[in-house]
Amino acid sequence: MSKIITTLAIILVFATSAHTSDFQNALNAIELRKSAMQGIWSRVKRLAPYVEFNENIEYGPEIAKQDAKEISQLLKRTKELWPSYSNLSHKNLSNANPAVWVLPEYFSKLYDNAENSALMLERSLENDNLEESDIAMCNLGNACGTCHSAFRRLLTSQLANEASAWAGKYTKNCN
Ligand code: HEC
Repeated sequence: MSKIITTLAIILVFATSAHTSDFQNALNAIELRKSAMQGIWSRVKRLAPYVEFNENIEYGPEIAKQDAKEISQLLKRTKELWPSYSNLSHKNLSNANPAVWVLPEYFSKLYDNAENSALMLERSLENDNLEESDIAMCNLGNACGTCHSAFRRLLTSQLANEASAWAGKYTKNCN
């Protein structure tokens, strides 16, 4: 009898620790992807006026190139941070809409769009091609905005505080 109890106790300990670590992994993934997204946004925010007006004295072409590169890298890294167990918006632990896991192909396609736009931006800045930078910035904004409107769910209480800025139009020239 005591053997059975011991065995059950061991199973229980393993089962709960497995559960805890899944939960902990989910929290880590959510935390990482959110801070990466914030990092992307802080770069886009200073890069957009540079692309639009090309005349910021302190923010020169070298920082612009570096920012574009880091946006690409952050997008690439965050692509893997959507394990199905991190589908926790029902517990208010994430703003990722459950649709992320229902429509993974569409989600991934929008990720590709953002990555491709970021690469185009990087390249155009390297080549000092202002016209192409303009287009790339619009495409990038469009990619962020499209994905957020489909896959990022906001609580009503969050809407008021939300920077409309992530919605997608980062320079005036975009259609
Ligand atoms: C393919 C989809 C997708 C793309 C592309 C994308 N995002 Fe996101 N973003 C999300 C999702 C989903 C969340 C919510 C994540 C969560 O709460 O777990 C999010 C969250 C955010 C957040 C809020 C983070 C926080 O602290 O809660 C910011 C800021 C952000 N994204 C900026 C951007 C910017 C800027 C771009 C474009 C350069 C971008 N994102 C591209 C899907 C995307």
